Amino acid sequence: MTRFIRPEHRHAWQLLQTLVDGPLPHLRDLLPDTQRHALLQFHAAGLTLDASHQRVNMTVMQALRALAEASGVMAQARAMFRGDAINSTENRAVLHVALRGSDQADPPWGTEISLAVSAELNRYCSFAEQLRAGECSGFSGERITDVVNMGIGGSDLGPRMATEALSQLDNALIAPAVRLHFVSNVDAWSLATTLAPLHAALTLFVVQSKTFTTQETMTLYASARRWLLDGGCPPDALHMHLAAVTSRSALAHAQGINASRCFSLWDWVGGRYSLWSAIGLPLVVAIGRDAYLQMLQGAHAMDRHFIQAPGEHNMPLNLALLGIWNRNFLGTSTQHIAPYHSALGKLVAFLQQQDMESNGKRVHIDGSACTVATTPVMWGGLGNDGQHAYFQLIHQGSQMVPIDFIGVRQGHAGLPLSAKHQRVVQLNMQAQAQALAQGRTGSETLQVLEASGLAIDEAQRLAPHRSFPGNIPSSTLWMDSLTPHNLGALIALYEHKVFCQAAIWGINAFDQWGVELGKSMALAIEGGSTGA
Ligand code: F6P
Repeated sequence: MTRFIRPEHRHAWQLLQTLVDGPLPHLRDLLPDTQRHALLQFHAAGLTLDASHQRVNMTVMQALRALAEASGVMAQARAMFRGDAINSTENRAVLHVALRGSDQADPPWGTEISLAVSAELNRYCSFAEQLRAGECSGFSGERITDVVNMGIGGSDLGPRMATEALSQLDNALIAPAVRLHFVSNVDAWSLATTLAPLHAALTLFVVQSKTFTTQETMTLYASARRWLLDGGCPPDALHMHLAAVTSRSALAHAQGINASRCFSLWDWVGGRYSLWSAIGLPLVVAIGRDAYLQMLQGAHAMDRHFIQAPGEHNMPLNLALLGIWNRNFLGTSTQHIAPYHSALGKLVAFLQQQDMESNGKRVHIDGSACTVATTPVMWGGLGNDGQHAYFQLIHQGSQMVPIDFIGVRQGHAGLPLSAKHQRVVQLNMQAQAQALAQGRTGSETLQVLEASGLAIDEAQRLAPHRSFPGNIPSSTLWMDSLTPHNLGALIALYEHKVFCQAAIWGINAFDQWGVELGKSMALAIEGGSTGA
């Protein structure tokens, strides 16, 4: 095993430190350079990334790519694709890429894994198609009309986000045989209000839990069983209303799940990377097998780009490097994500787990404490809402907040004035990126205020309050339309961004020991001891 080198000890890191200390022009002076603009565009798997509004020049980009090279990022990526046990604290491989690349002829992870993945994919997709076709019935003989997904974290966020994002598809739930419901939180209100309009005879529960021990999900499961029994389901017919997705099928069988309704994921699938596994079952119920396979293909297309594209064209790598530049050199403490399509309303919550549960770490892979900052606080929300809520802080606050804008060129066509709606969405997103970069100086503001008819003394009084520093970095990610393929590519893009940043910081992105203490204390409090 090669000796671990701390990131700040790398020459490339120290070069970047000198570059950030040297004066870099304001974005308003960088933007007119069309050649720079062209060099900061990236294209992959149906997505376009415009990084021209980031506070970099080509010298900085070359130094960042040299840091990636020195950190062995792509060698580590090849190790991940090969199935090496890169999750070193759990001694596990990390192979979510195998879940969407199983149709490869000679995959780096081996055909044995591909065959197992394909077999399980067929199992849960077939079951989902039966549900969609109304071929599943409950204890009364009537067909199942409602599916309640119970899970939390990666067992909820991915399927819930993707179901909402893709629910406008022609073959989605809008005209299907079943309705989907998601319950993640353990407070009784959440499950009670979901079940209130439902009927036991017509309802199936999917218990999503990789470990099949998560307290919240197991509590929900116990209540679901009780609700079914109270709703007239005979005990020996409960299995007709239950399915599970877990890596511990023996536990699920012992708790009443029939083997034919128990779907597996492997220990090399992290919860926050599991949408491509049987955890995607509710999504397949929502959009159907074909659309789900298109989402897998979109992610696989991004995987191929990531592992093959040279550094200067590699979209995930450059997205990661821009994040490193902002975080570790420009000193930002948060990263904002602003999707400009309401169907992406749950994307930020999904990316929060993916990023912060992966890279919210303070210890390097060799056990030494990090002295460089690791992942920033990831936050965000739908862009138009944000403009009328917290963009004030981003424009005129006391801290620099980099933004990833996510735009969909083709809007929903369901209204007579759809084109006008889409024009307003897009020009707002583009205007925000421009305003954040350009800003407005005090003298420019003074001119604007005087031109508006204000007296000079009033204009001078207000100018400081109505000026904008600008020079606030952003990237804009475009997709032509919100399709399963493009959503798959988008999620895979951010997965690989997280991977690249972890490789440079020298941290393990694939364990999550930080969630264990709270869990054990909760159980200990329940059992009456301290649990420390
Ligand atoms: O506690 C964190 C976590 O383990 C996540 O990583 C995971 O997605 C979630 O809890 C749910 O875990 P499970 O799928 O095992 O119920």
